[in-house]
Formats: sequence, structure tokens, C-alpha cells
Amino acid sequence: MHIPTGPLSVPITLLLMLSIGSLTTAQPTHKPVTDPTPAQSSLTEAQILTISPKANTCDNAPAEGECATAATAAKYTAQSFDQYKVTSKAEQAALVSLMAFESGDFKYNKNHFPGVAGQGTRNMQSPTFNKKYASSIPALADQLPSVSDSPADLLDLLRGNETYDFGSGAWFLTTQCTSDVRSALQKGDEAGWKRYISECVGTTVTDDRKAYWSRAVDALGV
Ligand SMILES: *[C@@H]1O[C@H](CO)[C@@H](O)[C@H](O)[C@H]1NC(C)=O
Repeated sequence: MHIPTGPLSVPITLLLMLSIGSLTTAQPTHKPVTDPTPAQSSLTEAQILTISPKANTCDNAPAEGECATAATAAKYTAQSFDQYKVTSKAEQAALVSLMAFESGDFKYNKNHFPGVAGQGTRNMQSPTFNKKYASSIPALADQLPSVSDSPADLLDLLRGNETYDFGSGAWFLTTQCTSDVRSALQKGDEAGWKRYISECVGTTVTDDRKAYWSRAVDALGV
């Protein structure tokens, strides 16, 4: 990290000028070249609703304790982009559409059909990946031993905090996909997205899945 030069290294003459002149005239030489605060990713409720119109409400949600509204999805998904440094719009669109599709418009964060124990979070990843993911989170280190023998309990630990529940998609992309797949995906075209789905997520492209991706590409302006 760049540390601005301290006043001790400033020549005496400049110090004298500083003491009698305005501070602002000398400030440019003290400013770091780059802004240390990274830009925050933005994702709006309206964008989520374009992708998942049914995420407008959690009234009459089909599974107790699993539904998230578009506002919640927007907030925590944007947070995950920042945490895992997913800055490419194309990657962001692929992630939001994957989560919207896999979670049934954010109504679910557990697998129900057929009901694989431990499969879940918003990208509906399998128990093996949930275990890897949970192990990567320092804040869960203390609780992990007590759930490591039960995939369902481990999933509940992840589901219990929106940061983790919505963070799994970006974690998976940035830690489990090859740089080759990511480069292709970042181009924003259908061929790259298909490679991400088939070669990294490991599932098949269907018309329904593609419709979510197309809406996400439009909504995020890829
Ligand atoms: C969820 O996890 C985040 C990141 O570790 C933490 O800052 C936050 O306090 C947690 N929220 C709750 C409700 O435990």
C-alpha cells in the first residue's frame, strides 16, 4: 500500500512556506496517486426484479425461512461482488442469473427436489462445495467442527447469515473455475456463458436457464 510522504521528508523551505501559507496549496504533493477506497459494486432491486419478477414479495413463500426479496438479494449479492472482487459485468450477470434460476427466484436456499441434504445456499451448490466454502470463511472457524459431520447442519450455518448465503456464487466462480473459463465468460457472449455453465458449474444449458441469463445481461447492461 502506498503511504504518502510524511512532513519529515519535506524540505525546510517548504515547511516554512506551509506554516505561513494555505495548507491546500501544498496538498497535491501529499495525496496518494490512487484512491485507496475501491469502487462499490452496485446492484439494484429493480435489476433483480427484471431478472426475477417473482422476487417482489415473500408473502406466501413456498418454503419457510428460505425466501429473500429482491431488495435483500440485491444488497447481499452486490456485497459478494466486492468481497470476491468480481468486477466484470458479464461475470456479475452470469452469477445473478445463476442464483435467481437455482434458488427459484430467491424462494429457496435448500435443495427440495429431490431434497439432497446439505445442498443449498443461493447458487444451490452441492454439499462438498459447501464444506469447502465454509472452511474458507475465517469467521466460521469456531463453529465448523460442530457441524462438519452433518451436511444439513453445515448448510444451515451458511444459510444463517445472508452474507454467506449470497456469497457462495462469487466464491465458487473465483475459486473453482479455471482462468480460461473466466476469460471466456468475461467476454459477455453466449459461448462464454455456456462454457461457465457446462465446464465449471457442471450442468446443462436449457432454454429456461438461458432466459434468466438473457434478462440479466439486459438488466446489468453487459
Ligand atoms: C454475518 O457475517 C458477516 C461476515 O462475517 C458478519 O460481519 C456479520 O456480523 C454476520 N451477521 C450476523 C447476523 O451474524
